[in-house]
Order: sequence, then structure tokens, then C-alpha cells
Amino acid sequence: MTKILVAVAWPYASGPRHIGHAASTFIPADIFARYHRMKGNDVLMVGGSDMHGTPTRVRADEEGVAPEVIANRFHALHTKNIEQLGVRYDLYWNTADPNHKRDCQDIFLNLRKNGFIDERTMTSPFCPTGNHFLPDRYVEGECPHCHFSAARGDQCENCGRLLDPFELIHPRCRVHGTAPVARETRHAFFRLSAFQDRLKAWIADKTYWRLPVISFTKAWIEEGLEDRPITRDIDWGIEVPLPGWEGKRIYVWFEAVMGYFTASREYWRRRGSPERWKEWWHDPAARHYYFIGKDNIVFHTLFWPAILMGHDPTLSLPYDVPATQFLNISGERMSAGRGRGVWLPDLLERFAPDQIRYYATANMPELKDSEFDWKDFAQRNNSELLAVYGNFVHRALTFAAKNFGNAVPPAGFLDAADRAILRHIEDQARKVSQNIEFCHFRDALREAIQLARLGNQYFDQKAPWDLLRKDRAACGTALHVSLRASRALAILMAPFTPFSSSTLWAALGHDSDIHAQPWDAVLDDIPAEQKLRVGPPLFEKIEIEAPSEADRFDLRVGKIVDVQDHPNADKLYVIKVDIGDEVRTLVAGMKQNYAKNEMLGKHVAVLCNLEPAKLRGVASNGMVLAAEDERDVGLLLPPQDAPVGTQVLGARGAPRLTFSEFQKFKIRVAEGNRVVFLGTDERQSVPLKVGDKFVLVDKGFAAGSSVH
Ligand code: MF3
Ligand code: ZN
Repeated sequence: MTKILVAVAWPYASGPRHIGHAASTFIPADIFARYHRMKGNDVLMVGGSDMHGTPTRVRADEEGVAPEVIANRFHALHTKNIEQLGVRYDLYWNTADPNHKRDCQDIFLNLRKNGFIDERTMTSPFCPTGNHFLPDRYVEGECPHCHFSAARGDQCENCGRLLDPFELIHPRCRVHGTAPVARETRHAFFRLSAFQDRLKAWIADKTYWRLPVISFTKAWIEEGLEDRPITRDIDWGIEVPLPGWEGKRIYVWFEAVMGYFTASREYWRRRGSPERWKEWWHDPAARHYYFIGKDNIVFHTLFWPAILMGHDPTLSLPYDVPATQFLNISGERMSAGRGRGVWLPDLLERFAPDQIRYYATANMPELKDSEFDWKDFAQRNNSELLAVYGNFVHRALTFAAKNFGNAVPPAGFLDAADRAILRHIEDQARKVSQNIEFCHFRDALREAIQLARLGNQYFDQKAPWDLLRKDRAACGTALHVSLRASRALAILMAPFTPFSSSTLWAALGHDSDIHAQPWDAVLDDIPAEQKLRVGPPLFEKIEIEAPSEADRFDLRVGKIVDVQDHPNADKLYVIKVDIGDEVRTLVAGMKQNYAKNEMLGKHVAVLCNLEPAKLRGVASNGMVLAAEDERDVGLLLPPQDAPVGTQVLGARGAPRLTFSEFQKFKIRVAEGNRVVFLGTDERQSVPLKVGDKFVLVDKGFAAGSSVH
């Protein structure tokens, strides 16, 4: 029995998570943990919500609420989504817990005592408008490496490089939009440079790591590790346990990675054995696996190991860090911060968790980026999970139920084809095991499905519907072998699609919990005469309707929170709109039609996926829709009680539209000041609505007036 720590990256409690996050962290970790539990290993799977840091703080500023409100809201949502997805942590915790705080502060003080933390003065960006420092994601600007226009002060989400905020080109405060100035401030530094040689020696034998993970880590070491500030001028986070540091907090990354350790302790504290965490952290044979996305690599392969080495050199270091690449949507990165992606709460409402898990695993970006594609999602579920696996077991079950008294027929003489299937069970089980153990989840799943493919071939070849008349005993044997293979499949698929494995296990007549079965039970026979409990097929077909042109839009309810004159144009305003996940700045040509106070506070229709553009020197990120004729301009007004962020047309995550693409679509005023979307060729007619209330045009316009 090996002690295995399954460490899952802690999702920020700053907004819903997208499918890419699940495909990088929750799902591979859960497959791995479920498999090892069945293998009889001692698995401890921990993680939780990352409550602190600027993503939560920035959202709180935008919504005008306390950061706790945001953090608690999304911690509750993550907890629910994880449960719905069937991801079984031993402890899903959160970093706002006082026990986490206390342990982190102890580690901080101990590292300081050991000489790995000192204090230095540095310059940091400061917003003179809001009179506050701008740590990490508070500041945005152009990435000096890839020239992505909205890179953050700590990291560019486009190229993944860690940044110093002063490297940003044209930096600006995310709250006030103004340029920061440099100001001196005092911070605690972690002496990462002191671990250069130790880390280099430690990774020397990590030849089994995924290539992108080891190369990225080595490149960092080769460049020379630099000391990093580990406190921030911010009021949301864990207090620095030193007198005189009241206005500062520990850097979110520095404390969040400690969560793997603090949560292990918490788990055993709650179980009433407060010392047992040591079995995972002080046993040299224990293996620690960290399931993360590629933007988290160095935090787990360099910073966290250095913290562990500096705190107590006898603690276990990561054994493997099977980081994934990104799951993109239409070629662009999904990003919780930018509200672009396929969201877990939405997916879980529309599809069975096993269907989501299946596609995320079959398409997991293990070595290179992959694409989430709706058609592919439907296709792979329908033609593999349903048509191969679901179909095979359903055929075997229904045929046996109908013709053999609803029970498993006994096996008679086994011919070559029967014996071949039994060998395939053994071979496929071995291949699935090996692949999971090496964290090759795509291949592991493919090998499991392969057994069902072989099962279908066997079933066709045996043609039990013919055998039934010719040789009833041989027919019974074919059914018995098929049900035995189905039973094996229930076990092989249990780590991947746990809900349907439970259903199949019960349908085969077992009363036990499949998730408590040992993995090696995959080879066991199915008891003859066991009563079957056949239900509906395991999977439903996924029908994705033909994409409507409306899906090219991400049109939402937004609230105008600020209106200013454009500095260089007398017909334009610079407007800020709250669109739910963020506050956008955009330029609108309405100055001759609306006074500032007429616009302020209105709920309007905002096109959120319009390509950002500079209008007379001001960046405009989206567009407020309005009707227009020769005499006036009138805003499109959704029901004024509709919450910000509510979808009016299309979907979040719709690919970007250029302005000229947008102009090809026709949106017109209809009777009664309603608005309809007509598509590019006027063949569709989709009324703009929120719930059952129509979006109306302000001021009144003749039917047929155009909207843009
Ligand atoms: N919250 C971070 C993210 O979503 C991940 C933190 S992982 C931890 O990118 F190790 F720091 F906990
Ligand atoms: Zn500011």
C-alpha cells in the first residue's frame, strides 16, 4: 500500500470555473484518485477554493461588496459543481479557514527564522486616482513579450509569462483606468535564489515528467532563480504575523500552495487523528501528484518545493506534476477573468456529468492545447460513449433479460472467441492501469472503450439472436461472456464515468457499491443466475441544435456606471458598463442625443464580444446597442430590473466579432418598439428578450429602423 497525495489546484473563488479548469484539475485528479483507491492504495485527495488574491478583490470592487461576499458565493458554487461532477475529494476546503491561516503564518515565521524570508524596499505601481497600490491583477497593460493588450501585472494570460508590473506597456489601474506611478513600499521577500542548487539537484531525476513541464521548469532554473516579494499592499488575504505589517497581506500564491499541506492536516484533525497527516508528508515512499494547468507550473515545481525545503527538509516533495496545456474555445483561451468560456454551471445544467467527464478526458490537453467544440462534444459522446460502450452493455443486458428469465445465464464450453474476450479483458485492464499510473488519461480511456468495441464485435460474431434457436446453451454462454465483459467495463470505466458505472453495476445485479470494489475484481466472473435489473440505456443522445446566427453574439444586460466626455471628440462619450463579470470601458457616439445623467444607471444591451478598437485614442471594448434614424438615437432598453450579465442574445464565450462582421447582421426595430434579430439574410427572426419581457427601444422609433 502506497500513500498517495492527490493535490488539486485551488480554483479562485472569484467567478464560475470553465470546462478547461475541470479538464486540467478536477477530472484528472478524480480519475487518478478513484483508480488508486480501487488499487487499495492510501489516497488522500485534498484541495479547496482559493479565496484570496486580487481576482476576488477586483470583482468585489466592481460589484461594490465586501470580498468575503464574493469568495463565499463562489466557494459555495465550486463546492456544488464539484459534487455534481462526481469529483470526490477527501477534503474540499478553502483558504479563508482559520486553521489554514494559522498554519500558513507558522510556516511564514519559521521560514523567516530559518533565514529564507527577509524585508526589502521595492517600488510598486500606485494609483494616484484611487490612492492605492496596484498589486498583481489590479494593473493591466500590454504584454512586453507577446503584445497581448490586456496582460496583468503578475502574469500574461496569453503567453503565460510571469511579469513584473513595470514591464507592462501602457499600464493602467483596473478600477480607475488611469496610469499608475511608481512608489516605494516595504515587503517581505522569499529567498528563492537560496534554493537554486537544491532545486536543480531535485529535478535532475524527474525524467518521467511531461515534457512541457520539465522544460519550462528547467528554463527557469537556467535563467537563475530570483528572490520574490511575498507580501502585498492589499487588505484581502492572510495577515502578516509581524507587528507593524497591519496594512499588508501575504501574497495569495505563497499561502495558497501551502493549502495542500494545511488541508492534509485539517483532514486528519477532523477525523480525530491529528498526527496521521504525517503518514503522507513524512514517509519517503509516499507519492505526491499535483493536478494543475500550465499557468501554474513554476508555483508547483519551484516555489512550493522551495517552501517545503526551507520549512522542513524532511517533508515530501512533489513526485509528479502532470500539468495540462489549455483547452481553448474557437482558438482562444478560456478565461474566467475575462468571462470567456464554456462554464461548468451551464454544462452541468444541460448534460449528464459523465458526458462532461467523458469529453473532457477524451479531449484532455495533456501535451498540447486542445479545442472545446460543441459538435465534437456531441459527436464523441454519441459515437463513442453511447454507441460503443452504452450500446454493448445494453444489448447484452436486454437480450439476456428477455430470453433467459432476467438472469445471468450459466457459461458452458468456452470456444476460441470466448477465450479471446476473456484475454482482452485482462489485456485492456492492464493497459488502462498502466496509462492511469503514468497519468496518460486519454490513452487510458481509449483502452477502456476498446474493450467495449471488442465486445460489440464479439456480440455481432456470436449473433445470439441466431444461436437462440440453434443452440440455446451456446447462446447462454455468449450472453454470460458478454455480461462478464460488461461487468469488467463497469470497473474499468468507474474512474472515468462513475455515475454510469454505478448504474451498470446495479443493472448487472450487484448490490455492492462498485466504487468500493478492488480494481483486480475486473477479472472476476459474474455469478450465474444473478438477477438482472435492466433499466434504460446508460447514456442519452446529445442533440446540439444547428447553430443559429444569434450564437455569434454575446449580447448581455449591462448597467451604465460612468459617463465621461471623450477627451478628443465632441460627439463621443467614454462609458463604463458593468456586464456581470467585469466593468467594460467603451466609446459611444451619443453625446448629441443623451445627457450624461440620462444614461447613468440605465440597464442597456451590450455587445460583449466585439473586437476591441481604439476610437479617437480611447480603447473601446464592446458596444452599447441603439436604434437610429435621421433625427435621433435611442438606447435599447432591457427590462430595467433584469440583473446585469443576463444574456439577451447568443452566449457567453461566443467568438469575437469584428466590426465589419457585426455590420452584416441585421437588427431592426419591430412593431411596438420591440427589437428583432434577423441574421445576415433576414431568414431568422429572433425577438430580443430577457425572460419573457421584450427589449424595447427608448424614445420610440418607426418599425424597420436599424439598430447598431
Ligand atoms: N487559484 C489559482 C488559479 O486558479 C491556483 C492556485 S493553486 C495553489 O490559477 F496551489 F496555489 F493552491
Ligand atoms: Zn485606481
